Amino acid sequence: MIRSVVRGTGAALPRRIMKNADFEGMVETSDEWIAQRTGIRQRHIAADDETTASLGEAAARAALDSAGLTPADIDLIVLATSTPNNTFPATAVEIQNRLGMHHGFAFDMQAVCSGFVYAVTTADLYIKGGLAKRVLVIGSETFSRILDWSDRSTCVLFGDGAGALVLEADEGTGTIADRGVLAMSLRSDGAHKDKLFVDGGPSTTGTVGHLRMEGREVFKHAVGMITDVIEATFSQAGITAADLDWFVPHQANKRIIDASAKKLGIAEQKVVVTVDLHGNTSAASVPLALSVAVADGRIKKGDLVLLEAMGGGFTWGAVLVRW
Ligand code: ACO
Repeated sequence: MIRSVVRGTGAALPRRIMKNADFEGMVETSDEWIAQRTGIRQRHIAADDETTASLGEAAARAALDSAGLTPADIDLIVLATSTPNNTFPATAVEIQNRLGMHHGFAFDMQAVCSGFVYAVTTADLYIKGGLAKRVLVIGSETFSRILDWSDRSTCVLFGDGAGALVLEADEGTGTIADRGVLAMSLRSDGAHKDKLFVDGGPSTTGTVGHLRMEGREVFKHAVGMITDVIEATFSQAGITAADLDWFVPHQANKRIIDASAKKLGIAEQKVVVTVDLHGNTSAASVPLALSVAVADGRIKKGDLVLLEAMGGGFTWGAVLVRW
């Protein structure tokens, strides 16, 4: 059977680093509160000349370099983002143009923090359906543009950045010994749409709007939803937590990550954590964490890697990949 195998990874971060202490004086908060409640110590914030498209392009170029490929080798670009450069056209198309790629096709996916997990499953299905052989899957966000910088309960949590993967069609045997995307589970439930949302949009206010979140409510649901979807993925693949080499969760809050890993019985040393460095970068968080763990040599060819995310909607999902 056809498998979608990871050929390369890449990342891009804005030049400016904002430390927790930089919020003191802007809003009533402290480095200690932010670090203790979330695990975040710093985040990158985009300058005016850094956009979702420019960061996505840089991450895509890095992923292509690591795969030893060029834009000419790519058939499809799937960009996960909730902070596109424009309402339309899709920012994926802008990235396609920036890459000098005038063949194939490109589109955006919007599933907030779960966007990258949705995008990987989408790319996998396009590959399995024969519509594409090599896909650039990108998560790129500039959440700093939709934050209310006077709201201490949200502005300290998010950061900007981008990460990318190249997926390529390969022949597999159909067992979990294969390399590539092996199992996946996606969920959404719009009953929770008012717990984490942006209070603007083209069809309602005609404005971009600002992020609003009932953090405590999101927290309450997160661990249960994350563990449900991971257990569904494990049972699809016929594995247990003990079989995993790496767990790469969405990087929203260290306490959510720790509680989910504990409930699933995933050992602490198998969990990739970058929330301290990047904050919550929404759809970019999983590919950014992946590229850090690949670059430092933790994730190696043949490793069994579990990706997971949960975000606005709510949306949530998990993907099991053999690297
Ligand atoms: N500094 C200091 N105090 C603060 C800050 C701050 N930055 N923010 C809130 N507080 C205060 C609150 O006002 C509250 O004060 P009160 O008790 O006087 O009312 C107190 O701290 C505790 O607030 P809680 O909201 O109960 O704090 P909690 O421990 O729940 O942590 C947090 C808040 C970090 C937001 C947490 O709820 C969380 O991580 N939620 C989930 C977020 C998440 O996972 N999002 C994922 C998806 S993101 C996406 O899809 C875009």
